[in-house]
Amino acid sequence: MGEVLYDFIGIFKQYLLANENIFNERSKEDMKKTIFALSITAAFLAFMGVTAQISFAGEELNMSKLSGNKRILVSYFSRTGNTREIANQIHEIVGGDIFEIQPVKPYPDDYDTVVAQARKELDSGYMAELKTKVQNIESYDVVFIGYPNWWGTFPSPVKSFLSSYDFSGKVIVPFCTHEGSGLGNSVGDIVKLCPKSKMFKGLAIRGSTVKTARNKVSEWIREINIIK
Ligand SMILES: Cc1cc2nc3c(=O)[nH]c(=O)nc-3n(C[C@H](O)[C@H](O)[C@H](O)COP(=O)(O)O)c2cc1C
Repeated sequence: MGEVLYDFIGIFKQYLLANENIFNERSKEDMKKTIFALSITAAFLAFMGVTAQISFAGEELNMSKLSGNKRILVSYFSRTGNTREIANQIHEIVGGDIFEIQPVKPYPDDYDTVVAQARKELDSGYMAELKTKVQNIESYDVVFIGYPNWWGTFPSPVKSFLSSYDFSGKVIVPFCTHEGSGLGNSVGDIVKLCPKSKMFKGLAIRGSTVKTARNKVSEWIREINIIK
């Protein structure tokens, strides 16, 4: 649109130059003002066009097609079952393998104790020892990674999991359950640990609504275009 307007202004200018003698000084002044206003409009439209193209490219990155023979792993950590519920729903739709991240030492049942422990773990950069390992991580192209939002990010066992393997070149698809903070800082924190992975748009589901989240989950999977 901006380019068309630029072309039009160019032709208009040429016409003015060719017919300079038939315009009086006053109307020439008015013409100059019109050209100036049109130029500003064209520059603005061109800028908007470029901006739209950039954001469209971003959307495409998020939603690049992955259908076909890509191997999928749905991995998750869950203390009280909410994230497990979402992981199972995702797995039912996308197929592939499912893997539960489990610390050697389970978290206590008491909420306040876990909250205090999780804060300490986060502050100290602690990485929980994990009970089991994924066999052949290299064979997966797409890794879903699910976790409860703890203190605005993922819990220590997820940090250990992300640090245990080389996810370079793989697609990582984050999802979380939470009680108000959504994905928080977790996506940025995953990028820090896996800078050579391709991040896809994440999903955040409120913990108290996981049983009725099926439509949201399938809508998101359709949106990110992960399967045919
Ligand atoms: C240690 C801890 C910290 C939490 N921090 C947050 C938080 O910062 N923001 C939030 O929205 N929910 C927070 N929650 C709530 C959980 O994210 C939510 O209950 C989640 O659904 C639990 O998932 P799970 O059943 O898979 O363990 C926290 C819960 C715990 C135990």
